[in-house]
Amino acid sequence: MKMFDVYPLNDISIVKARGSYVWDDKGTEYLDMYGGHAVISIGHTHPYWVKSIEEQLEQIAFYSNSVKMPIQQRLAEKLGALSGRQQYQLFLCNSGAEANENALKLASFYNGRKKIVSFSRSFHGRTSLAVAVTDNPSIVAPVNQTDNAVFLPFNDEAALQDYFDKDGTNVCAVIIEGIQGVGGINIANPTFLQLMSRLCHEHKAVLIADGVQCGYGRTGKFYSHDYSGIDADIYTMAKGMGNGFPVGGISIAPHIHAKHFMLGTTFGGNPLACAAALAVLEVMENENLMLNALQMGAYLMDEIGKINELKNLRGKGLMIGFDVPPELRELKKNLLSKHHIFTGEAKPNVIRLLPALSLTKSDADKFLVALKEEVAVLTNKQMAAAVA
Ligand SMILES: Cc1ncc(COP(=O)(O)O)c(C=O)c1O
Repeated sequence: MKMFDVYPLNDISIVKARGSYVWDDKGTEYLDMYGGHAVISIGHTHPYWVKSIEEQLEQIAFYSNSVKMPIQQRLAEKLGALSGRQQYQLFLCNSGAEANENALKLASFYNGRKKIVSFSRSFHGRTSLAVAVTDNPSIVAPVNQTDNAVFLPFNDEAALQDYFDKDGTNVCAVIIEGIQGVGGINIANPTFLQLMSRLCHEHKAVLIADGVQCGYGRTGKFYSHDYSGIDADIYTMAKGMGNGFPVGGISIAPHIHAKHFMLGTTFGGNPLACAAALAVLEVMENENLMLNALQMGAYLMDEIGKINELKNLRGKGLMIGFDVPPELRELKKNLLSKHHIFTGEAKPNVIRLLPALSLTKSDADKFLVALKEEVAVLTNKQMAAAVA
């Protein structure tokens, strides 16, 4: 048997990781400015996280959700406290797509409606409804296509207002990333989110804040939507929640009530996942990682902003993107092959930085030195080619 070939792969085998660094099978060290796709929050293999999972594994790895699991309640309390939403309710699952799928389903149970409003360049996952509200037709299978998904232009307040004026009473939910990740690091304007929150409230539609990539402290606030001062009805999360252990969840406002069996899962909320997620929150709090993300992000943005060749720098905390002009198109590849630094991308020409929230100043400097050097090398090469 071989692997189903759905990913274009770098020819690198990562076998070890610690903090913001990973090592391949030949012992080469790489700086991870990609965080394994925004997943690494407290740093790879953080010792406290490893110990928590190991201790839990010695006790019990799994039992079904038919019995009480005190560790779930401990996680819910910690998450409520750190996210500033103690009154919210937690449903646990295993991934970001599942979190959004459950959030959308719950919204529809709540108000009995079907239309979901989403936005241009959004990404919400690959399960049936999550992908239907994702703005990328190439990953939507025919069976996932539905007239219930409505796409409006991102950050267009007039279009949003207009849609609600015309069909607001049929809107089940609006789903939005506070900062679009896969779409290329596009920040939702606070006024856009505030209008959305008001319109949802007025029309009894459910506002779903997709915090799978932009959440969990990465931007310096627990959810990046918090920058606009709104309270969403449901927050979805995954990625950084487990620091690499698969776990997702939805945080549900108190006015949305549970009924037995309306949602369910076999693996969601298993003791191992909870131990990992709880350790992440404890480390985030003890090591003040949200503040670190804010400070390191501001430092990176200041320094990258001085590199004139890189355009349209944007982001918050440690969720940063910039446009790479065509003459520097080798930049991402060279950062990896020559400087051993992983970065993320968004098509067609965006470099995305999504490092661990524990990134240090010396890690940031190491990246900046390589970035400046490589931009200079590629620019000089381009100029030499033009002269010749
Ligand atoms: C904003 C957002 N939502 C949902 C998802 C889906 O998460 P998962 O891959 O864990 O299903 C992603 C993944 O990149 C994402 O960036």
